[in-house]
Amino acid sequence: MTESTTRLPEGCEAHRGALLHFLDDPGNQPDPVAGSLEHIEDGLLVVYEGKVLATGDASVLLPRLPAGTPVTEWHDRLLVPGFIDTHVHMPQLGVMASYGTQLLDWLETYTFPHEARFRDGDWAQAEAQRFTDLLLAHGTTSGLVFCTSHPTSVNALFEAAEDRGMGLTAGKVMMDRHAPDDLTDTTQGSYDDSLALLEKWHRHGRQGYAITPRFAATSSPEQLALAGKLAKDHPDVMVQTHWAENTGEIQWISELFPERSSYLDVYDHYGLLGDHTVLAHGIHIDNWDRSRLAKTGTRIAFCPTSNTFLGSGLFDFRCARESGVTVGLASDVGGGTSLSMLATMAEAYKVCRLRGQTLTPWQAFYLTTLGNARVLHQDGETGSFQPGRYADFVVLDPGATPALDMKQVYTTTLAETLFSLMILGDDRTIAATAVAGEVRYRRPQGADQATPTTPSRTQGAR
Ligand code: GUN
Ligand code: ZN
Repeated sequence: MTESTTRLPEGCEAHRGALLHFLDDPGNQPDPVAGSLEHIEDGLLVVYEGKVLATGDASVLLPRLPAGTPVTEWHDRLLVPGFIDTHVHMPQLGVMASYGTQLLDWLETYTFPHEARFRDGDWAQAEAQRFTDLLLAHGTTSGLVFCTSHPTSVNALFEAAEDRGMGLTAGKVMMDRHAPDDLTDTTQGSYDDSLALLEKWHRHGRQGYAITPRFAATSSPEQLALAGKLAKDHPDVMVQTHWAENTGEIQWISELFPERSSYLDVYDHYGLLGDHTVLAHGIHIDNWDRSRLAKTGTRIAFCPTSNTFLGSGLFDFRCARESGVTVGLASDVGGGTSLSMLATMAEAYKVCRLRGQTLTPWQAFYLTTLGNARVLHQDGETGSFQPGRYADFVVLDPGATPALDMKQVYTTTLAETLFSLMILGDDRTIAATAVAGEVRYRRPQGADQATPTTPSRTQGAR
């Protein structure tokens, strides 16, 4: 028997619909780089033990399924890998849409008081559950997440992720100065707590730990040094912090660290740069910074809805790419205004346009799937439908809203469909979200027409 006719194993399941995933960076030109993506109009995603076993034309794969294999039909839907958010704050859902301030005032007025509530374990648990449920409702299945300085917030988040089968990378915020007493930790205590959480959660099932100094303004030099020690002792653990978001912030850092040549040099000095580090924002930077980022492999999380909402500035996407900096796309809720990675793509496009640049739908969908998986070193596990990856996927409804439905009439190519989805789409566009092959979210109100069926092995085209 040849490969193409062998029977697939008993116990698999399949999902039928249009499939799109990326195999490599498609570039940012109107036509994607050849071989960088796979698009199958009537496709089948075959799942075995939570992972992708095969993708292909439904007409080819359906006859290879053992009799009785469940096949979910996602009529007129587009299945893409689960979205990945490379910078988001679990405890800031309630901070979204706080009026009228820039970064430093916003932190003091809204964010710090709100995060202080997470010292209450019951509150932390309820919010962690709400957060993970909302991620799934927005099509996000993985991410790099800030908790608060309270270890209980980290336990609550990982427990909620485990309950939903999701893999998150997250950490306890380290902040030992310049914040209210009920939010600051102590220098040594932050190290001890981070290490204990790292040992408990890193590579615990799908979970990963992230060393999380908030930003250089809220960490003493001693705390940054301890964060650097953690990173050095655990080179496969991610590091996340904020950087060069706001001009007032940058001025403050230069006053706090007069001996350092730049904001980036502060993190460099304390051993916090490297290919496992994600710096959120990176707006007000220069070519020296970019070359240092490229040389060390340090990543930037581009957070467009946050950058426009807080009036922080316009990230230079083209320059970062051309300098060889690895860039991910992120919501930064609650500075950001939506957990939707579709809304995030739309805002990223607008930021690029305001800079006279562009962001193609190919590049936008790549960034939120395989690109972001690469940022987090998770592309062997998620971000595409290549065999062996977790079957994390989103079912997109291209006619989900009246505006999208109207637009479909004028849409003839896949690029146009993707562009409509990213500009007009939001959580209403998410018909369902699956993690490790299990549908964990379905859009309410019976709006979705997917029906589980058990086709005969000979079933071919619809
Ligand atoms: N800089 C330090 N903390 C934060 C935060 O919580 N959000 C944003 N956007 N920037 C920060
Ligand atoms: Zn942030």
